[in-house]
Amino acid sequence: MLVNAKEMLQKAAKGGYAVAQININNLEWTKATLTMAQEQKSPVILGVTGGAAKWMVSFATVTAMAKEMYKSLGLTVPVAIHLDHGSDEQCHACIEAGFTSIMFDGSHYPFAENIAKTKDFVALAHAKGMSIEAEVGSIGGEEDGVVGAGDLADPEECRQIAALGVDFLAAGIGNIHGQYPEGWLGLDFDVLGKIRDACGGIPLVLHGGTGIPAEMIQKAISLGVAKINVNTELQLSFAAATRKYIEDGKDKAGKGFDPRKLLNPGYEAIRQTVKEKFELFGSVGKA
Ligand code: 13P
Repeated sequence: MLVNAKEMLQKAAKGGYAVAQININNLEWTKATLTMAQEQKSPVILGVTGGAAKWMVSFATVTAMAKEMYKSLGLTVPVAIHLDHGSDEQCHACIEAGFTSIMFDGSHYPFAENIAKTKDFVALAHAKGMSIEAEVGSIGGEEDGVVGAGDLADPEECRQIAALGVDFLAAGIGNIHGQYPEGWLGLDFDVLGKIRDACGGIPLVLHGGTGIPAEMIQKAISLGVAKINVNTELQLSFAAATRKYIEDGKDKAGKGFDPRKLLNPGYEAIRQTVKEKFELFGSVGKA
């Protein structure tokens, strides 16, 4: 059974490691992530953006696929299915569709509106036994059409949002979605420490996990980050392995055009990247 993400993240925050949110795009992504989580005895959060859900037809399709796969693969590790950067409409749709967790991203609203809306979604999510993530200070870069300027979150605003009863909180600390540009200033650990102190120990979320150097990941975990989101890095691994297969002419040899053969190198590449993330975040063997 899929679970909400509250308990696994509280355990991670106490244990000094982070749980990976792996964003999924299709059946292969989901299967790669779930099989590796089981092999590594690691908890995991399946992240779904509105765009990815649209590609897979609907939030309900994604829930059905994840739930059925969890059962049919005989999984035992804790797995949550979580809406990534949800709008009002998407949060409502995921509550209906049987997700176990949502992120309401009100960071682009004036702060008072972010507070009011987050408060409503906390009540709705908790009434259904779901966990909820909120956001303060937008994450820079672009992900599936959601664009953020990338400001540093104000610790006082973080305190106020955390006090609404959200289960975990995303706060901008210089992180961005997608690949980090040359000259990126790095994560602001001073701000992260202040946010941690202001938020009474709720697990913090680091978005934009692609390409953050290992030492920064470790330091962020030591300062209260218990969930790290990764999306682009899996897309890059998948694309590179698929490109190699085709450039090596393998799709033209025998039945190499069979989609199960054509997609397999990319599938295996995703599995390896997921494994590397579990190792880096310290979640191996924690399930
Ligand atoms: P990346 O695409 O940079 O890994 O970020 C993923 C993310 O933060 C999902 O919300």
